[in-house]
Amino acid sequence: MPAAPSKTFYLETFGCQMNVHDSEKVIGTLISQGYRQVSTVEDAGLILYNTCSIRDKAEQKVFHRLADYKKLQAQGKKFAVLGCVAQQEGEKIFERAPHVSMVCGSASYRNLPQMLVQIEAGKRATGLDDRETDECFETEFTSRSNPHRGYITIIEGCDKFCAYCVVPFTRGKERSRTSGSVLAEARQMADLGYSEIQLLGQNVNSYKDPAGKCSFAELLAAVAEVPGIKRVRFTTSHPRDFGPDIVQAIESVPTLCDHVHLPVQSGSTRVLDAMQRLYTREQYLERISWMKAAKREISITTDIIVGFPGETESEFQETLSLLDEVQYDGIFGFKFSPRPNTPALKLEDAIPDAEKARRLTALQEKQRDIQMRKNASNLGRVFEVMVEGKNEARAQWIGRTSQNKVMNFKAPNGAVPEVGVYVSVVTTATFPNSLAGEMVI
Ligand code: 5AD
Ligand code: SF4
Repeated sequence: MPAAPSKTFYLETFGCQMNVHDSEKVIGTLISQGYRQVSTVEDAGLILYNTCSIRDKAEQKVFHRLADYKKLQAQGKKFAVLGCVAQQEGEKIFERAPHVSMVCGSASYRNLPQMLVQIEAGKRATGLDDRETDECFETEFTSRSNPHRGYITIIEGCDKFCAYCVVPFTRGKERSRTSGSVLAEARQMADLGYSEIQLLGQNVNSYKDPAGKCSFAELLAAVAEVPGIKRVRFTTSHPRDFGPDIVQAIESVPTLCDHVHLPVQSGSTRVLDAMQRLYTREQYLERISWMKAAKREISITTDIIVGFPGETESEFQETLSLLDEVQYDGIFGFKFSPRPNTPALKLEDAIPDAEKARRLTALQEKQRDIQMRKNASNLGRVFEVMVEGKNEARAQWIGRTSQNKVMNFKAPNGAVPEVGVYVSVVTTATFPNSLAGEMVI
């Protein structure tokens, strides 16, 4: 029997991988409650936005969406705001967008089934647990969108309180899952045919097994040793908690991918201190030296904020010189965006937007040259690549190396590699953001 129109939903996700994975759990939960997912707003009875508030631009997106579709309320459609904007703005969302029926932060997703019953009865529902919750959102109903690689949350929340960051307020305090529960999920995924797992957390290195069995590095190794799992990644790491044991695990367990994302934010110790990052430039570089000394070549990526209040030109130059020193494989650069509740909101000496934009461009241009040179050193090398899809227009397959580099490749003699399989590819051309090659048979 087809589902009643009111039991259909459309969900759009904004923001980070944590949000993408939360949405997979929310979708599974909705399906377990008799809902059916549809791919357009028009076909849906319930429209959900899983939102991001890390920067102002991300936050504004959801309010634009809500304004765009407001008229659909007349057709009896209901709207829900989930995630970081929901937690941050709370019931104020009902005032700004009165057509919204549900506001639910990520620490309250376990209450979704009851909240759905409430909105079905024509009431409003709110889930706004404060940051003190001890619970993780564990569910048997995760609906993963990719059948080959998938996420597992190992730790939720953040206790670091960097001066610019809204996450400790939107996602609550740090709480880890037991290693037993993480490993059970990894085994279950391997049984279902998954070969790549990405362990997720706002700050994976501060993982503390509530059962007291595993350190983070031991958990990494244990997941990587689950039969059937060929690749394990993890994100995001905080330099303060990043120990040599993680590098040792990567050295000794081949299924741990040779890639670490280690956000630095700034190359200036003075700015790092103002950001309350809890490490100096030198301490950060020490962690980089552990990775550079490893037996396997580890690719390193980072996040950088330019134009933090009071950042001088010479402090910005220190960030540029850090790029020269580290030779990152990739960076994500952001203009500082003042966020509600955060200590940086009250800092003086704001940098004008045009200056932030200039610094961001200078940062990206320098990094482009570095990546061009770094990637060029891969010419002629053979990489194992997991096939992720095909670019029909170019008759090329798309894959990813263990170092997380995109490889576009041709398959000779009519070979048709299937999505999800691992193939060897020799690099025949290099670009700043990708490699190109030919499959080796
Ligand atoms: N402004 C700009 N960038 C930010 N980030 C976090 N908060 C802010 C902010 N207020 C960046 C950091 C972080 C990444 C996920 O987003 O670089 O590592
Ligand atoms: Fe993710 Fe942070 Fe954005 Fe929330 S605010 S979605 S945790 S990046």
